[in-house]
Amino acid sequence: MPKDLHTDRDAKIFALYEQLVEIEQRLIPTGLHVFGRPSSAGEKTDLLKMIASFDRPEVGARAIPEELLDDAVRVFLENGVDAAVRLTGEASRPVFNLLETVCTKLQSNNEIDSLVRALRGEYIEPGPGADIIQNPDILPTGRNTHAINPYGVPSAAAFARSEAVANSLLDRYKNENGRYPEAMALVLWGLDNIKTQGEGVAQALWLLGTRPVRDALNRTTSIEAIPLAELGRPRIDVVMTVSGIFRDLFSPTVQLLDKAVRLVAQLDEPLELNYVRKHVLQQVEQDRCDLDDAAVRVFSNAPGNYGTNVNFMVMDSQWDREETLGDLFVTRKCFAYGRDSTGRAFEGREARVAMDRALSRVEATYQNIDTFEIGLTDVDHYFEYLGGVSKAVEKRAKARPAIYLSDSLSREVKIRSLEETVRLETRAKTLNPKWYEGMLKHGFRGVAEIENHVSNTFGWSATADAVDDWVYTEVANTFLFDEQMLERLRDLNPHSAHSLAQRLLEANGRGYWDVEASVLDKLREISRDLEDQLEGVV
Ligand code: BEZ
Ligand code: MG
Repeated sequence: MPKDLHTDRDAKIFALYEQLVEIEQRLIPTGLHVFGRPSSAGEKTDLLKMIASFDRPEVGARAIPEELLDDAVRVFLENGVDAAVRLTGEASRPVFNLLETVCTKLQSNNEIDSLVRALRGEYIEPGPGADIIQNPDILPTGRNTHAINPYGVPSAAAFARSEAVANSLLDRYKNENGRYPEAMALVLWGLDNIKTQGEGVAQALWLLGTRPVRDALNRTTSIEAIPLAELGRPRIDVVMTVSGIFRDLFSPTVQLLDKAVRLVAQLDEPLELNYVRKHVLQQVEQDRCDLDDAAVRVFSNAPGNYGTNVNFMVMDSQWDREETLGDLFVTRKCFAYGRDSTGRAFEGREARVAMDRALSRVEATYQNIDTFEIGLTDVDHYFEYLGGVSKAVEKRAKARPAIYLSDSLSREVKIRSLEETVRLETRAKTLNPKWYEGMLKHGFRGVAEIENHVSNTFGWSATADAVDDWVYTEVANTFLFDEQMLERLRDLNPHSAHSLAQRLLEANGRGYWDVEASVLDKLREISRDLEDQLEGVV
């Protein structure tokens, strides 16, 4: 075989190998949490391994090396801290001390007791809200979750971590398009920024080429520009759509983000290195508006409102044309937050034209995923936000944006396209027997979860056409065309089984799933049988 054919083949096999390892190593929840029930032994072991695989400077602990992890955690569970330390060395004692605390707290589950006490109007001890792997201090569960001091956001650690994420994101776009994106749209959520102490916020600041400045009381209230020479790249224009929860919890942060944009817009810098300024000046010229209006970049719902409703429209099949979904997103989210040059705050001023203009320049959209518990197809919120904004951009910019997600779960930063993430989620969860068998143990609710995943996947077709045909084909093969499986779903929850069949037919009807007529006939028959069952005909 000629040499270049050989290397080509090797490269392909290596790429395939990497993908298989990625799917294999993907953390997935293998069941639902049952209120009041402590985790099983198996779940506990997996959790401890995850916790032990991250550096924890806050308790002086280094991650246990991957090759020792399985043995070390097993020895720890069987024989305790000292035995485990003998295996891995004295330096890892702090990790095992941490694991011991986690084990003890996992046993003391106060959920039911606390709920009953709360219903009686008693005091419930507070505890931090976070991802268990990122912050094991959330244990024991069953406490009154408290959030965060918004003036502490972004934390120094979150800001430091986010530089690599912003750079990887820009590198990925540049590799695919040969230049930097001039403008990006970011989705910022409240709970995520609580869990990560503001990684999403920090990523936005990095893209703009700014850093937070703390005042004498150590509060993040100000912003400074990172000099272009230090930044080594252009400042990216960033359109931020923040959730209603973010707006409520992070009011000072909303002001900080708006301040960052306005600072950058005023810098005397070459326009090809400062896209914020370039676009703001363009808009002033085009619309004959003032600088204040042209620099609006932080959008959310009207005060007191939450959500985009794009998810409801998709779930209820209440739409004809895709662009309706993007328009709905803008209708719900076109309220501007910030402060003008005279120092007057505006909190939820309707700014539809400003949002249309800002989105019309966007070339890439992005959201940070920060937990293994909830991913792209677990809830309908990712597609309502990231899908919704991407669809809104597509019409206004007259081109579909590149859509990216990051994975700040892994030790290395990983930026994936939306399409790659949907494939990974499908393989790691929806079509993975470990995942769906875990769900099916929960009976009626488990089938509903499977159906939800398929509908949320469909949401990525509707808002971004990001789902391959094979995904729907394999969903049909796995859950409906396998007779034993269909029988189980039918017994446990015929409603969700019926919705699943209908959703697949809708995917075909709307042009997202190209499949032979015989497959559709089979699906229609299954759907009719389920309907008969639901109506009590059989
Ligand atoms: C948030 O934390 O901001 C959020 C939570 C659920 C759905 C959407 C946003
Ligand atoms: Mg397609």
